[in-house]
Amino acid sequence: MSMKIFTCVLAMTAALTAQAQPRVMEVKTQKAGAAVSPTMYGLFFEDINYAADGGLYAELVKNRSFEFPNAFTGWDISGRVELRNDGPFDKNPHYVRLSPSGHRDKHTMIENHGFFGMGLQGGEEYRFSVWARVPDGGKAKLYVDLVENATMSDDQKLGNAGLDVSGKEWKKYTAIVKPKKTCEKAHLRLWGDSKVTTDVEHVSLFPVKTWKGRENGMREDLARALNDMKPGVFRFPGGCIVEGTDLATRYQWKNTVGPVENRPLNENRWHYTFTHRYFPDYYQSYGLGFFEFFQLCEDFGCEPLPVLSVGLACQFQNGLDAHAGMDELQPYIDDCLDLIEFANGPADSKWGRVRAEMGHPEPFNMKYIGIGNEQWDTPYFERLKPFVAAVRTKYPKIKIVGTSGPDSEGKMFEKGWEAMKTQKADLVDEHFYRPETWFLATPEAKKKYGNCGALRYDSYDRKGPKVFAGEYACHGAGKKWNHYETSLYEAAFMTGLERNADIVEMATYAPLFAHVEGWQWRPDMIWYDNLRMFKSVSYYVQQMFAMNKGTNVLSLTTADPQNGKKQVPVAGQEGMDGLYASSVLDAETGEVIVKVVNTSKQPKAVQLNLQGMKGERTAQTLTLSWDGSMDDENTLDQPEKITPKPGITPVTADKKCSVLTDEVPAMSFRMYWVKK
Ligand code: AHR
Repeated sequence: MSMKIFTCVLAMTAALTAQAQPRVMEVKTQKAGAAVSPTMYGLFFEDINYAADGGLYAELVKNRSFEFPNAFTGWDISGRVELRNDGPFDKNPHYVRLSPSGHRDKHTMIENHGFFGMGLQGGEEYRFSVWARVPDGGKAKLYVDLVENATMSDDQKLGNAGLDVSGKEWKKYTAIVKPKKTCEKAHLRLWGDSKVTTDVEHVSLFPVKTWKGRENGMREDLARALNDMKPGVFRFPGGCIVEGTDLATRYQWKNTVGPVENRPLNENRWHYTFTHRYFPDYYQSYGLGFFEFFQLCEDFGCEPLPVLSVGLACQFQNGLDAHAGMDELQPYIDDCLDLIEFANGPADSKWGRVRAEMGHPEPFNMKYIGIGNEQWDTPYFERLKPFVAAVRTKYPKIKIVGTSGPDSEGKMFEKGWEAMKTQKADLVDEHFYRPETWFLATPEAKKKYGNCGALRYDSYDRKGPKVFAGEYACHGAGKKWNHYETSLYEAAFMTGLERNADIVEMATYAPLFAHVEGWQWRPDMIWYDNLRMFKSVSYYVQQMFAMNKGTNVLSLTTADPQNGKKQVPVAGQEGMDGLYASSVLDAETGEVIVKVVNTSKQPKAVQLNLQGMKGERTAQTLTLSWDGSMDDENTLDQPEKITPKPGITPVTADKKCSVLTDEVPAMSFRMYWVKK
């Protein structure tokens, strides 16, 4: 054999041996470790990307109360249409007077465009409602048409209804309309009697089929997607929206409860934040308000985590003078205490009564409250103090969530953590929108960022506050969309959350929702247009973790590639061949759950030694893998292009314990369930 051939054979044998050598992982199934918090994986909701109005909130009429600064934003008007401001709802005083033109065929009409049009499903029922009166007394007729485009003939209308309005008193009128066919971009046309003046206010159209059939309800498909994740916690209402670009436009929960007709409009900061994504018609109707948020938490069986203003307008956008002074904080602190009463107080307390009148006399049993979003340095620390003192005194059982600011590392981040420790916050909300290298903790990333990736929390102080990874997502460098590769790296990172469940109490991917025509920020977890939706691959990653969080961490280790005698976690370290893994026990089902992420471009052989288990078994598996381009993603047209697929793998009986050997596909996330 020539030297050349010999060398080649040697190299091939070495490669085969390397491939055949599985990565051996020791899983101590007999020793239940730290409890995994039921809140571990959850949802972060912010009204960004038309997440509330035009998204989850099922209202189809935009600017239904004519309160936008430009009162007819979203409306076309013709004939004698007059804006008036002495309506029946003091916080939304505007309404519209429709007067006869003087000619039978010169119709006075208003037409609403919805949010990028109105999505209507043929054959489904829609509830139209309007507050109306006949100012001169007597009777009038109002006509509602659902139309696809301006030039339809009468019988081409998608649906219509007529309402008999009578009397000088404001009353609510409703009608059910059933569109003949499906239309993604319908309009609602409202026109009056050609002889009688009619006033109209709060013009509304909802699908009858909302989540749980509620009248002021949520889009069924979107709410179901949230429910299907089995979230442990739901953080709302943001994000920067909590703070406001200025204090006047901060999110004020008291404006979001009570009858929807009287919830005042607020600006939405995302309408103008990015000059390249300008949405001048993006406001907050507050139809989806704090009551509805709490109700959703109850539906999903998860803990509500409201976040409130600490008296600081967005620090990114403002100098020091934009904030509430220390002597001006009391109303903010009152808002915080009153919110706890609204959620948990008896039905005869001031704010508990508001909840009861909205149909929920029982308390919501809220346990957590966030104070401030992405705040930093002394202005935050000094303002937080009186909040903490007030909450601790009045509601000692409520857990307080502080923040370490917008950075995931660095001086301000560390200062934030120190301050949260000193103030004894129960949890610290950390945010990280970082590139692939951060999530994989490559040597360059460690140099640049320090503590990142799946080993991030191994070194955290166990005596201080717990971690709430409150906003995170892998933002591909130069590729800011929900492509497969970044979602896989999120899974790799999340094995580190799971292994550190003793310190990480909750984690929520962000942002949650985006309308395909109205986004300001991406990637996002769930996308939709007016009729359809799709779950990103990141959604499936979150769901795989959330639905399989187990009850206790199990130790999962492997021989240190640098020093074979030591056992270390499998967290993508050098020599780990891009493998990440974690394991939990579900004490309720008696299952051991192992999650393995292979971020390498090669399939990897793994061997799981299930210590404490004997005999053969069959493991159920769920695998997220993709043979196409790593840049691929799910879309409205192909919503299920990339989804996890179930399978099975045999578990063999070894002398010492049960052993699962498998080959994990390249660039994949596989989960195993083995009954103990
Ligand atoms: O999730 C989008 C934004 O990112 C949030 O509003 C803010 O908290 C963070 O900067």
